Amino acid sequence: MTITTIFLSFLLLLFGRANSESQLNDKEQTVLLKLKQHWQNPPSLSHWQNPLSLSHLNSLNSSHHCNWPEITCTSGTVTQLRLQNKSITQTVPPFICDLKNLTAINLSFNFIPQEFPKALYNCSKLEELDLSQNYFNGTIPVDVHRLSGLRHFNLGANDFYGNIPASIGQLTELRTLKLFQCAFNGSFPPEIGNLSKLESLQLAYNVNMTAAELPSSFTELKKLKFLWIAASNLNGEIPEAIGEMEALEHLDLSKNNLTGKIPTSLFMPKNLRIVYLFRNQLSGEIPQVVEALNIDVIDLSDNKLTGSIPDDFGRLRNMTGLSLFFNQLSGKIPDSIGRLPSLIVLKVFSNNLSGTLPPDFGRYSMLVEFQVADNKLEGELPEHLCDNRRLVGVVAFNNNLTGELPKSLGNCNGLKIVTVYNNRLSGDIPSGLWTSLNLSVLILSDNSFTGELPQRVARNLSRLEINNNNFSGSLPPDIISWKMLNTLNLRRNKISGPIPEKLSNLVGLTELDLSENQLSGQIPLQLGLLKLTLLNLSSNHLTGRIPTQFENDAYASSFLNNLALCANKPSLNINNCNNSDHHKSSKVPSIYLHLIVSFVAAALLRLVVAMISIYRKGKHQLDSTWKFTIFQSVNFRESDILSGLTEDNVIGSGGSGKVYRVVVNDPNNIVAVKRIGNNRKLEQNLEKEFHAEVKILGSIRHSNIVKLLCCMSNENSKLLVYEYLKNHSLDEWLHRKSRASSTSSSIQNVVLDWPKRLQIAVGAAQGLYYMHHSCSPPIVHRDVKSSNILLDSEFNAKIADFGLAKMFKQGELATMSVVAGSFGYIAPEYAHTTRVNEKIDVYSFGVILLELTTGREASYGDEYTSLAEWAWRYIKDDIPIVDALDEEIKEPSYLEEMSSVFILGIICTNKEPSKRPSMKEVVQKLHKSSQPLVYGEKIATSLSDTSPLKNSKRKSTSENDEEILASIV
Ligand SMILES: *[C@@H]1O[C@H](CO)[C@@H](O)[C@H](O)[C@H]1NC(C)=O
Ligand SMILES: *[C@@H]1O[C@H](CO)[C@@H](O)[C@H](O)[C@H]1NC(C)=O
Ligand SMILES: *[C@@H]1O[C@H](CO)[C@@H](O)[C@H](O)[C@H]1NC(C)=O
Repeated sequence: MTITTIFLSFLLLLFGRANSESQLNDKEQTVLLKLKQHWQNPPSLSHWQNPLSLSHLNSLNSSHHCNWPEITCTSGTVTQLRLQNKSITQTVPPFICDLKNLTAINLSFNFIPQEFPKALYNCSKLEELDLSQNYFNGTIPVDVHRLSGLRHFNLGANDFYGNIPASIGQLTELRTLKLFQCAFNGSFPPEIGNLSKLESLQLAYNVNMTAAELPSSFTELKKLKFLWIAASNLNGEIPEAIGEMEALEHLDLSKNNLTGKIPTSLFMPKNLRIVYLFRNQLSGEIPQVVEALNIDVIDLSDNKLTGSIPDDFGRLRNMTGLSLFFNQLSGKIPDSIGRLPSLIVLKVFSNNLSGTLPPDFGRYSMLVEFQVADNKLEGELPEHLCDNRRLVGVVAFNNNLTGELPKSLGNCNGLKIVTVYNNRLSGDIPSGLWTSLNLSVLILSDNSFTGELPQRVARNLSRLEINNNNFSGSLPPDIISWKMLNTLNLRRNKISGPIPEKLSNLVGLTELDLSENQLSGQIPLQLGLLKLTLLNLSSNHLTGRIPTQFENDAYASSFLNNLALCANKPSLNINNCNNSDHHKSSKVPSIYLHLIVSFVAAALLRLVVAMISIYRKGKHQLDSTWKFTIFQSVNFRESDILSGLTEDNVIGSGGSGKVYRVVVNDPNNIVAVKRIGNNRKLEQNLEKEFHAEVKILGSIRHSNIVKLLCCMSNENSKLLVYEYLKNHSLDEWLHRKSRASSTSSSIQNVVLDWPKRLQIAVGAAQGLYYMHHSCSPPIVHRDVKSSNILLDSEFNAKIADFGLAKMFKQGELATMSVVAGSFGYIAPEYAHTTRVNEKIDVYSFGVILLELTTGREASYGDEYTSLAEWAWRYIKDDIPIVDALDEEIKEPSYLEEMSSVFILGIICTNKEPSKRPSMKEVVQKLHKSSQPLVYGEKIATSLSDTSPLKNSKRKSTSENDEEILASIV
């Protein structure tokens, strides 16, 4: 049999089955195809095809609509439509309910702009409706109860406003109701309490709600497991009956203005696991009786709670996190809490807790965070704190602790931060602590520690403050191993000997305080090369000239009370080196002057020191609290993120900081975290970049723009948490090979084939198009380059890194204070004027098109030219374009498309901004060249699709993904 006869007999078979069922099927398929057309044929639905159109014979088997992944059929009729994240930008048409048997519609994570689609009332069997994460607006209609069969209803993260109608309480079949993060005002209707079958109620982040109490009727929801009403302006007291909600598992009423006592029955529901009441105004005591023995996390921080920590918390054997900071709790921390076997995080700082710490903390659980600072605790730190080697932080400053640091801290390589200043601790530092692998902050100030300074310190140590102790000995001559230090404070110890010359090699040092020691000898002149914002060498025995760089008023008090120091400039509070008299003590007035000056200076110094320590005190408290801002609903907590910021998890680093890959909760839930700054005050430009990124990414959503899930900031660090994109950046795929010749062969073998590259070009273009044309005001990225195009597991492009992005008024030329961008991608007008518009992004995008078609790097070219100029010569000198195309992927069937995209790249990189197309035109052009492939419609390409060569190539790409990434990372 020939292939043709096989097809023919197949066709006959198909048409032969023309019974009534298949007619109905056809009708449903017609509705689906009409739907696709109504949505203007989004590429995500390109596989929705009529199997009977002859051009798709090759895909007959998979083309029955019941086989489309978005469709579920039951007994041959369409019952579920799952269209989340399909880049749908059009409205929901009434004819969707011609699919009479629909029970579930999911349109979440699209861009649907519309009022509530009342036409869905005609979907009479609807049980599940998810419209979340779209641009739906207007009010929820008062007759919404006509969707009477609904069991699951999600309208979260839309622009709905106005009142939530009381009639929602008539949807009595509801199991889940999610109305979080909209623009509702008014108050939550008490009628929700009638939904007796409700299991999950999510109303959080409706920040514009009128301040009102939590309706007490909600406590009638006896089947409710999940109650989330964070940040929605609740005030008044929590209803006492909340403890009678026997099914309750997850309770989150954080970030409201709740007042009064926590109901005594709160910890009664047997299945309760999560209790988040943080950031309210709750007062009185924490309920003492706990029946919910499976509790996982209790977070009551940032309230006004008084009284003691309940003994019953010591019975919570599954508790992993206890957070009670920023309250007025007093009394002793129950010893039984120290013995809890699951405890990972303890945060009880900034209370009035007293007595000794439970001695068993760290002994029986995998303790990670131990934060007890700013209380009235006494006695020793728990001896076993780091027995299980998971500890990351010991934050215990501002207490009355005595004794030595626990020995276990000397063998604790996960430690990042140890701040125990302002206690009465003594003894030597466990020797391993100085060099602990990951330690970055060590603050031991204002204690009575003894011993000598270490030769080496941890390779990441950036802040070492041990002032006001009894450390002795000298600074190590080979101090260069302290190379990551930003802050070094050794003030008021008993350190003697010279200042080592190599101190000047610590180029990151910005604060250096060696005052009030017994240092002698000359100040190494090279020290003047450091870029110090604070220098204090006063009250030592230093001699000789000070480095000339310090001869200005900024350092006027840096050298006080070193009688044998001198300077060339008389203005400093220092002897003049050229004044030969300065050694003679015969000049009485001068001596008086010295005395007066040193007296005044000493008084001033004391004042400054006092002020600094007050400032510091405030600062350290802030260190341990993060401002957490959520842009998308997330299922992790700040501690999940913080605990993942380990060196092992670093997947990249750049000018602004490191990027980490963090697994939160379960292995499939991965986020990328960008950390800006490193434990010291951020430079101004980094701070600006952070704000630009948060402002822009926090306000836009598009499937081709990386999702910012949340951000966290405190005074010293900013964290941006994004969706994690498995395939990293386009740059890595295109150019990694040419850079690292020694990489493993798996990389050498795998190249992005042309269909994937085209898909990436289309995606990135859509993202930029959205920024330039759909955002108001338009957003110009200013740093478009292949390393800022990230790829998900399906190679969908997402634009990232908005640190330089700017919002522009329409049509306006903005003046940029600095030229931003990256070599090879910078539009020429940028070099001679700082007034630019969105055409600079078009230029950079053109360079990316050239990279995709030629496989060359943006900086490729002769000594003075770039890839763009190199490519232009093909036009100017009339060289055949095929010669420029990437040999690795050049196949005859691709040549036409590759050439036209190459030419588009050249058009985009026109030197004249006005001659470059807009991103809208670019998208249209790309769509034209991509359609045959994306839709797989052209018979010619479809048939060649079956050639074994190409199939095996595709397959190997996906099979090797894991391996490749392992080596790229
Ligand atoms: C809906 O399902 C019923 C029962 O399975 C079936 O008889 C009917 O034809 C279906 N309706 C449509 C429009 O397919
Ligand atoms: C809803 O949004 C659309 C598109 O942004 C707008 O045209 C329309 O006026 C809005 N409708 C309401 C009721 O706000
Ligand atoms: C809340 O209301 C204010 C003032 O009406 C408005 O500017 C803001 O955008 C609203 N916020 C949300 C999330 O709708």
